[in-house]
Amino acid sequence: MMDAPNGVDFIQKSKSFRPPSSYVEQSYITSADMYSEIYRASIEDPVAFWSDIADELDWVHREQTVIEGSLPDFRFFPGSQINVSLNCVDRHANNPLRRNKVAFFFEGENGETRSLTYLQLHRNVQKFANVLHNFGLAKGDVVSVYMQNLPETYIVLLACLRMGIIYNTVFAGFSPEALRERIVTSNAKAVICSNGSYRRGKVLALKETVDAALQGEHAVRHVIVFNRIADLATPMVQGRDYDYTELMRTAPATCDAVPLDCNDPGLLIFTSGTSGKPKGIVHAGGGFLLGTYAYSKYQLDLRDEDVYWNTADIGWLTAHIFVLVGGLALGVTNVIYEGAIDHPHQGRLYEIVERYQINKLFSAPTAFRMLMKYGEALAQTYDLSSIRLIASVGEPLNPEAWNWVYRVVGGGHAVINNTWGQTETGGTPLASLPGATAMKPGSCGVPFFGHSLDVVDHEGRPVKDGTPGLLIIRTPFPTLARDVFGNRNRYLQNYFEQIPGAYITGDSAIRDHDGHYWVLGRVDDVINVAGHRISTMEMESSLIQHESVVEAAVVAQPDAIKGTVPVAFVTIDNRVLPDDGLAKALQLKVIEDIGSFAKPERIHFVSVMPKTRSGKIMRRMLREVLEGSVIQGDITGLEDSDALTMLISEVQDS
Ligand code: PRX
Repeated sequence: MMDAPNGVDFIQKSKSFRPPSSYVEQSYITSADMYSEIYRASIEDPVAFWSDIADELDWVHREQTVIEGSLPDFRFFPGSQINVSLNCVDRHANNPLRRNKVAFFFEGENGETRSLTYLQLHRNVQKFANVLHNFGLAKGDVVSVYMQNLPETYIVLLACLRMGIIYNTVFAGFSPEALRERIVTSNAKAVICSNGSYRRGKVLALKETVDAALQGEHAVRHVIVFNRIADLATPMVQGRDYDYTELMRTAPATCDAVPLDCNDPGLLIFTSGTSGKPKGIVHAGGGFLLGTYAYSKYQLDLRDEDVYWNTADIGWLTAHIFVLVGGLALGVTNVIYEGAIDHPHQGRLYEIVERYQINKLFSAPTAFRMLMKYGEALAQTYDLSSIRLIASVGEPLNPEAWNWVYRVVGGGHAVINNTWGQTETGGTPLASLPGATAMKPGSCGVPFFGHSLDVVDHEGRPVKDGTPGLLIIRTPFPTLARDVFGNRNRYLQNYFEQIPGAYITGDSAIRDHDGHYWVLGRVDDVINVAGHRISTMEMESSLIQHESVVEAAVVAQPDAIKGTVPVAFVTIDNRVLPDDGLAKALQLKVIEDIGSFAKPERIHFVSVMPKTRSGKIMRRMLREVLEGSVIQGDITGLEDSDALTMLISEVQDS
């Protein structure tokens, strides 16, 4: 029976687009040859590559050594001292040409707008650093930050980075249990929150959640509350809770940054595990700066004149990689937005692009698919001509969505950059170099400088190009997670044990004959039906092309005869009836597009998908729903736990 290349048909069928020539002129890397040459040199001599990047940053003290050790025990610039906030704030505030430039345009979901210059940011960050200091918080302490996208959230995080205080952002909207788990696991000494957040027209009472999370034992001594919503009742606990604005009013306006070793922990972010407790991923502050600066510069071509909007929530690492650290290190003007990008009307995202004349837009496939559902006519009522680059991360960007975004949102003149990264990689080791490499709809582009990637089998042997395998990274890089908080064994076992000397991503991928990578999903998401290996991404892509389908997720279900069979979950246009006729039509579509072996055994019509706050469909939960109704793994990452209950009952009824 045939094995690969089943499931890779879409790669063969894929078209390739050259970057628009108007874009190439303003790109750092201007041709495929230039990329290949720099890439080759960076792999041969990573020390020279990272040393050149380091030269572009401000150091407090710099030693000679660039890279020490190897995976999993490695350090970048050991003994060298650097501070993230000096690079993201002070150096722009001290530059007469940049200090009065807008660092943030803020737009609240309720329509409120504000802006903050680099000089204003500088003053506020120093004041809040003094607030932290006055509470006795110091280098190495952990604080939990439970805030939505607000300028104050950025001020808080930069102040932590200034003092070497390790911050842990938790999605504002997570339940009290999820927040409590993170506070307790990280041994946080303080919580910084806003009193509430606007989300889809509703008010989320965040301080109430913090109070509930702090019932019982924990190490939190202080809670600092930013009153985002003036008329929201916010009871304060005497001696524990403090008002942000009051504290800022009296705080001194200057505060020296603490010099930190490049490898000192800077931030902590939890990622949901497939089972058991969520993992606290630890990133080194200096390392994170070094890498995110390089990714933001070369993969987004960020420049002084850019007005750049990354829609990611601050609870997701993407916002730290490409806004808080990468974006600010490059001194661009960032747009930050508080709420849902289709509220109060479906054109909200377009309206913001038009209002600020955004030229670089970064979002996620779930958002692009949503825009696609709202239709082309809506997009055409806005002026989107300022857009030059559209980037994406988080899930496969299926070719249909890619083409739609390219044509409708980018007007055929923008670069689409489907980047690939993980919370653990702290950046995007795969992406296009926008002015240089060809764009292939659905592909994640090429390896970033200094990163040696490979696709291997389970024993670590490289597979042939065009064949799916396990994606691994063989070189250390500065943004790679340094630890799982409080659990070194889990770090080593999860990421390094299976293939010695390499970091294991857990994703499955194909490298094509041009050296472009196609990430297919988690390894568990590649289905083996009677010897045929099928990628769920390809099946989902096929289903999504059907006019009635909004979203699709395919998972494997054990089958006595075939080993496993694919089962599809789909959400459909609410004007269409989910009947047997439609189910048959969808099965036929997959048969036509891929082959009869890929036919989904069953189609479940569901009204919602279980998703993370970053919009990723939690396929693991769909598998568990099929196996029975008890969800074993961690569910604290779910955006909406009611969705799961509804899903279980819909599947049981169907
Ligand atoms: O499976 C891959 C998928 O998302 C996972 C990482 O998720 P998270 O930690 O939330 O990412 C934070 C982003 C910095 C990966 O293991 N993924 C991410 N990007 C892509 C992707 N899958 C396919 N294509 C992508 N572009």
